[in-house]
Amino acid sequence: MPEQYRALQGFKDILPEDQPYWRFIENTAAEVARLYGYQRIETPILEDTAVFRRTSGEATDIVEHEMYSFNDRADKEGRSQNISLRPEGTAGVMRAYLEHGMFKLAQPVKLYYLSMPMFRRERPQAGRLREHHQFGCEALGEADPAIDAEVIGMLYQIYARLGLQNIRVRLNSIGDQNCRPQYIEKLKAYYEPLLDDCCNDCQVRFHKNPLRLLDCKNPQDQKKIADAPRITNNLCGPCQEHFDTVQRLLKFYDVPFEIDMLIVRGLDYYTRTVFEFTSTIDNVALNGGGRYDGMAEIFGGPHTPGIGFGVGIERVILEMKRQGIEPPAEAKPAAFVVYFGKSQELRDTAAKITAELRRAGLKVLMTYGERSTKAQMKQANTSGSSFSIIIGEDELANGTATVKNMQSGAESNENKQVQVKQSELLSYLQEYQQ
Ligand code: HAM
Repeated sequence: MPEQYRALQGFKDILPEDQPYWRFIENTAAEVARLYGYQRIETPILEDTAVFRRTSGEATDIVEHEMYSFNDRADKEGRSQNISLRPEGTAGVMRAYLEHGMFKLAQPVKLYYLSMPMFRRERPQAGRLREHHQFGCEALGEADPAIDAEVIGMLYQIYARLGLQNIRVRLNSIGDQNCRPQYIEKLKAYYEPLLDDCCNDCQVRFHKNPLRLLDCKNPQDQKKIADAPRITNNLCGPCQEHFDTVQRLLKFYDVPFEIDMLIVRGLDYYTRTVFEFTSTIDNVALNGGGRYDGMAEIFGGPHTPGIGFGVGIERVILEMKRQGIEPPAEAKPAAFVVYFGKSQELRDTAAKITAELRRAGLKVLMTYGERSTKAQMKQANTSGSSFSIIIGEDELANGTATVKNMQSGAESNENKQVQVKQSELLSYLQEYQQ
């Protein structure tokens, strides 16, 4: 295949063999989210670039380097808008909440989104796609720490239902507009004398986004991070109380969590509670989330606290495969219809039987074209069907079909095959299915 006709780098086809994983995760996530009172929302893939730039933050990797942004075609007046493919889900959900006046509804408004595609032009590397998909939840309009615990508890329940084990729940608080600026000053004062010895990225972070100094993965900077002042020792009274309550309430959800002061998140909109769940094996983040109590005001809306998370579905599937978790298999066909002979009447009868059984709601496959008897039976076999329905000249003459049980294994051939009237095929198969 010539290079230009391959999927773009970082973009992936989701092939039929992986679909059972997607359906399993989507069904499980939606089922649990509904238990907690969440309703589904979908927002457009394209938004005004400002929606993301203003909320995620100008100095974040996502906004600085990774957004797919472009100027739309100019309208009649010659005006053109800069628009972007969505890099994350929260800003669009908040935009929709404000645009549709959802702040007038009973609060909190609890929303979830399923398999929404996100686009980030990341450097290609394992586990990082340029198009990935998220399941996410956002609870808007409630500041009570009870909802922080609820959101984390819900997420933990989803992983448990998927059968995932050994998931690390890492929790932190990054304070709010009252205490974080002072903490950042402390952090900068600590780093200033060390800066010459820091990696290049940290030198930039120091000026643009100091909290991200704590997120550096470079070995030369790990000791500096370990000795850095901790945000959790620098929270103001209300933030401390909020954090304590979240931890106390999390016990009710049976979530084994750890406090990790290095969870600072890569988006600027967070306040107070932040968390990530990672796999125990390689610390890859399966999801990220937290509070964003100031976001609505960035849009010019009324003060609206919010909290949520986004789960990277591709990453969860990788982790499921690594843990050997199989999703429920797709239902096998009830029957596979074959015809032994070349006459058009035989083929028409096979097509008619197949159509009728499908209309009645059975999963039925059939053969096509001119294949040998052997080839047709091989097709029936590999399809995993419970029965094959065989139409030959004899069956055609007396209005019957030979129904062969494909799953009866060791039984004798006589037991495996019966003659059934064509008009009774449906009830025969239905009886077997029950
Ligand atoms: P995020 O941590 O940037 O948060 O992304 C959430 C999850 O999406 C990550 O933990 C990861 O599993 C997955 N993910 C992110 N980037 C990639 C990538 N390039 N390839 C594969 N998977 C990826 C957010 O997006 C926030 N909107 C989450 C949130 C919702 N916070 C509050 N509400």
